[in-house]
Amino acid sequence: MLKNGIILLGDNMQDVSKKMDELIEIINKACYEYYVLDNPTITDQEYDDAYKQLLSLEEKYPQYKRIDSPTNRVGGEAISKFDKVTHKTPMLSFDDIFNEDEIVSFDERVRKTVNNPIYTVEPKMDGLSGSLVYENGVLVRAATRGDGVTGEDITLNVKTIKSVPLKLTKPINIEVRGEIYMSKRAFNKANEERIKNGENTFANPRNAAAGSVRQLDSKITAKRELDYMAYFIPNPEDFGIKTQEESLAFLKELGFLTNYKLNKLAHNATEIIACINELGSVRDELPFEIDGAVLKVNNLKDEEKLGYTSRVPKWGIAYKFPAKEVLTTLKEIKFTVGRTGKITPNAIFDPVHVAGSLISKATLHNEDYCIQKDVRVGDVVSIRKAGDVIPEVVEVKLDRRKEGSIPFTMIDTCPICKSKLVKKDSHHFCTNIHCPARHIEGLIYFASRDAMNIDGLGDEIIEDFYNMGYLKDISNFYDLYKYHDELKELEGFGEKSISNLIDGINKSKENSLERLLCALGIKNVGKRTAKMLAKRYKSLDNLINASYEELVDIKDIGETIAVSIRNYFEDEKNIEVINKLKEHGVNTNYLGEEIKENENFLSKTFVLTGSLTNITRDEARDKIESLGGITTNSVSKKTDVLIVGDSPGSKYDKAKELGITIWTEEEFLDKLR
Ligand code: IVH
Repeated sequence: MLKNGIILLGDNMQDVSKKMDELIEIINKACYEYYVLDNPTITDQEYDDAYKQLLSLEEKYPQYKRIDSPTNRVGGEAISKFDKVTHKTPMLSFDDIFNEDEIVSFDERVRKTVNNPIYTVEPKMDGLSGSLVYENGVLVRAATRGDGVTGEDITLNVKTIKSVPLKLTKPINIEVRGEIYMSKRAFNKANEERIKNGENTFANPRNAAAGSVRQLDSKITAKRELDYMAYFIPNPEDFGIKTQEESLAFLKELGFLTNYKLNKLAHNATEIIACINELGSVRDELPFEIDGAVLKVNNLKDEEKLGYTSRVPKWGIAYKFPAKEVLTTLKEIKFTVGRTGKITPNAIFDPVHVAGSLISKATLHNEDYCIQKDVRVGDVVSIRKAGDVIPEVVEVKLDRRKEGSIPFTMIDTCPICKSKLVKKDSHHFCTNIHCPARHIEGLIYFASRDAMNIDGLGDEIIEDFYNMGYLKDISNFYDLYKYHDELKELEGFGEKSISNLIDGINKSKENSLERLLCALGIKNVGKRTAKMLAKRYKSLDNLINASYEELVDIKDIGETIAVSIRNYFEDEKNIEVINKLKEHGVNTNYLGEEIKENENFLSKTFVLTGSLTNITRDEARDKIESLGGITTNSVSKKTDVLIVGDSPGSKYDKAKELGITIWTEEEFLDKLR
């Protein structure tokens, strides 16, 4: 062992590598005890000494550095992109259910195939799933789920996660699946740090974990204190395992962090519900966020009998806790004006924590919505995050309403420019095209994630810059660097945030055309249309010169879009702005991937129906188009292939009637491969 942190070595190389092995053993054991068992047996000083010794030996004798060395946990060289990894077995997820009736139905469904089933009830970790591949017990690859078939290689980043064993207790070849997550403590610490550095805070631990694991520089990931909870072995039979319970025990034995204290067994729906209620009651005290419970049939023979649908396993299901609701007081109903002039009433309330983030406003959509909910200033309202993302007002607590409250009335003039509002369908609009609010929203949209994706520019900053006269039109983003000294005077702007902002703005000059097209804010041209136009026209000038007749002839472009595009480019002011963007060096060409022709897709017309599990619709469309296929929305004689997900609609019947080739999602993913 170590003596005062000093090792005396001769020149014998065998001794060197033996010593390194010993140090690795000590460090790995210490990590396991600290991060997995939460029960350290050596002091921090002893750990640091061993670590420093290993580091200096590795520097001196790099030829002996092992790939599973714990010194890799600090991260390595930054990479320029993540490599793609094809999963050996597809990385599926379960269907979601939300209430007790659905638990009962799940149990009934299982009982049709299996006698006296037993289930594991496990906490549903709220992070992102990760696959870890070990060869001879050494971690060789880590990957994200991606579309279930292909994920991204995040090995360098995952190696920095202290609860991930770099070497297992057995020299076996195994793939392990589990959740990469950030504990509540690490999340709070990361956010405190971000506030100190003037950076945007993470909305919740899941976003924080996802953002941290997708860093190209693993040194950044190393600082984020992620964890890994193991819960699944795709090939348990290779290890003589017969139940999910045994899989979990085996994972623990291999050195993984598992939820062994919280994972339970249940024999029927009543017991499952009791386990879930118990999980719900300890949820707030757990060191990590969970968003439900995962139910799995325990016996692997039963699992096999139950099998899979075209998308998901039938032997398990994910129960999601109801969205958390909290009470607060409505302080104000504030009207905002969108880019198109649309007026939206917003509930402004005392800030409250909901599902991991502090929120103080929620949309009230339109007049009808406010009247139907009967929201009034001063009301106590319950708030939740719909789909755990967008805050919404659930209901007004009428029994707590104070006397004299005033019913909601819609405004009839624009809150900003005071022009008369016009009502179209359920929405009110300010039709003054020079309304400053519309300009501000247009600027915000330009910088937004789907458009030019400029980091470091929040909505309020853009509004301030507009009000200070720095941003008159979208081209002025590229003049902001001239105001360096003025920006420094502003609250919250340090040298670092200004330089990040300017870097972000400069970086956006290199965006491919589809982002710019979307960012221009042409009416009716959203992300998808912009992409399609960019791919087709290749340069902004080509599109500017496209006639109405030519545009309207394109599949997916109706008269409305064609008119909007022409109107936009016929307006001299818009062309002036575009010329200024060009002068600033903003790219106006399509830089996207060239079409890789694939005979399964080339020149064929595809329609998608039903919900897809392993890939989003947008991703599916992108893939088809990138391989030379065409996607449309409705089935006709011209359709070559219909791709069906779950619960397909009438398109499926029509395709069958017309004798059109039908692919399941799996067949589609197979063809992509
Ligand atoms: S098992 C075939 N177990 O929730 C599915 N998943 O649909 C194998 N998750 O995307 C996954 N905790 O990322 C499993 N104890 C747990 C889990 C868990 C969280 C995630 C997982 C998956 C989704 C379940």
